[in-house]
Amino acid sequence: MYRSHSCGELNASHIGTSATLSGWVQKTRDKGFVVWVDIRDRYGITQLVFDEDRTATELLEKARNLGREFVIQAKGKVIERASKNNNILTGDIEVLVDELSILNKSRTPPFTIEDDTDGGEDLRMKYRYLDIRRKPVQNNLIFRSKVAIEVRKYLSDKGFIEVETPYLIKSTPEGARDFVVPSRMNEGQFYALPQSPQTFKQLLMVGGLDKYFQIVKCFRDEDLRADRQPEFTQIDCEMAFVEQEDILNAFEGLTKHLLKEIKGIDVDTFPRMTFDEAMAKYGNDKPDIRFGMEFGELNEVAQHKDFNVFNSAQLVVGIAVPGGNSYTRKEIDKLTDWVKRPQVGALGMVYCRCNEDGTFKSSVDKFYDQEDLAKWAAVTGAKSGDLICVLSGDTHKVRTQLSALRMELAERLGLRKSDEFAPLWVIDFPLLELDEETGHYHAMHHPFTSPKPGQLELLDSDPGAVRANAYDLVLNGNEIGGGSIRIHDKETQAIMFKHLGFTPEEAKAQFGFLMDAFQYGAPPHGGIAFGLDRLVAILGGQETIRDFIAFPKNNSGRDVMIDAPATIDEEQLKELNLKVDL
Ligand code: AMO
Repeated sequence: MYRSHSCGELNASHIGTSATLSGWVQKTRDKGFVVWVDIRDRYGITQLVFDEDRTATELLEKARNLGREFVIQAKGKVIERASKNNNILTGDIEVLVDELSILNKSRTPPFTIEDDTDGGEDLRMKYRYLDIRRKPVQNNLIFRSKVAIEVRKYLSDKGFIEVETPYLIKSTPEGARDFVVPSRMNEGQFYALPQSPQTFKQLLMVGGLDKYFQIVKCFRDEDLRADRQPEFTQIDCEMAFVEQEDILNAFEGLTKHLLKEIKGIDVDTFPRMTFDEAMAKYGNDKPDIRFGMEFGELNEVAQHKDFNVFNSAQLVVGIAVPGGNSYTRKEIDKLTDWVKRPQVGALGMVYCRCNEDGTFKSSVDKFYDQEDLAKWAAVTGAKSGDLICVLSGDTHKVRTQLSALRMELAERLGLRKSDEFAPLWVIDFPLLELDEETGHYHAMHHPFTSPKPGQLELLDSDPGAVRANAYDLVLNGNEIGGGSIRIHDKETQAIMFKHLGFTPEEAKAQFGFLMDAFQYGAPPHGGIAFGLDRLVAILGGQETIRDFIAFPKNNSGRDVMIDAPATIDEEQLKELNLKVDL
């Protein structure tokens, strides 16, 4: 028997009993006549004691020579500690050891295995198994497991069936590039790893399963960010005989359940906002509504004077920064520099101070009088003591820039509180999105999303205006889920493919199986997929999903621990009929 108790279990009630513990050496303190060793496992830390009076010399010497991260087993008697430690569960006791075995030695770890480690990100990723020994990382993984279990419980209670769909498939376009796998048995042919199980879950609806879910890996070759990994996990769901309202209700239910069970928070309201409204009010299709700072469009009250920068702009738009009038000129200049950084891309920023005495002082006083500025304040909702920040330019660009500024300021002002949860449905997304580079339209959600009733005709005359039965669930400014009501007839699907630039032959070659299925009694259906990594990170009060993934990739898509991707040898290339000339 390796252990009678875990390292987080023994307390005052065990005093006088014997115990066997196994775990890692957290640290050793050697006072000469006494040696203390902290032994650690997933459950906690227990203090082991060896001293000259009560411990055999040989054993004391063995304890003295233990290194950090040695794996040991210690048997002994639970005794009361002289100086108690209220910070840990086992702080009332220590174990006076009479038998010590070294189960395995350890090299000195490259960073300290403590809550606040001295290891940098790269080093911790290279030795991820050591990083996982640290409490904060373990807690995140335990938290993730808890969320996944709650999801399974909730959905299966509601009659959803978990079905596994294949990983070796053909491309399912979700807007990213595919990861491909060469087929040895089919020379010159490739599988694609699923960007999502989208077409399969639709086929399960044709198959009559009615309610499906799967906690499933998805693979997307796209640029990485804090909230994106090349392989990530979805809670993928689909339902038959549903309208948008049914889906929104069903998954509000899941989200409420998770907030309640995991965070102990009751959230009753799931406001809804159209995509157009979200863009106009927040410049963003995933607005963080935990705080205000809504956009005020100033064209009407700022384009009537001789200020050409505003007059020539498509949109003049501002936000009121609460308490921002306290910023010094230097601080405002810094803010201006911040919006002018290439990552944000604004050409400049106009500001207006709202003084306590009700007067205004702007950076464009030459052009605007107090009456004008009072109107700016009214439109942006600025109060005395606030600062109005105004950007102008091309509508889409300027909204994106002001949205970045809004989020940055909210962060600095501490308005993005990690213990507050504000879900939001963003609905009525455009069906198609124009790719500025190629001039072609592509599906904003995916090609299987249905247009709103009666809008199919618009596809020819004004494709950008067609709205879709598509929705996103936003939580604290992050898109945690997205879905749609699907097309379920062959004709409409064919029209969609045509508008996405597929010839009928190409559509048949790539999606013939789905079009065929639609001819055998496909029920109306729709669904949603949550990003599990994102959901878990946000519930955990963070936004970097890497911290909630056991073995994540770095920003270049590499696993630095196993050193992948890697080249493969000639033999393997030959077997796969691949030639690589680098
Ligand atoms: P979508 O592409 O919106 O929809 O993806 C659903 C959710 O998955 C998460 N997500 C990601 N998380 C981490 N890293 C990534 N690279 C990444 N990409 C997406 C997001 C997103 O909201 N098949 C459709 C769903 C449907 O229509 O039912 C789909 O995949 O949280």
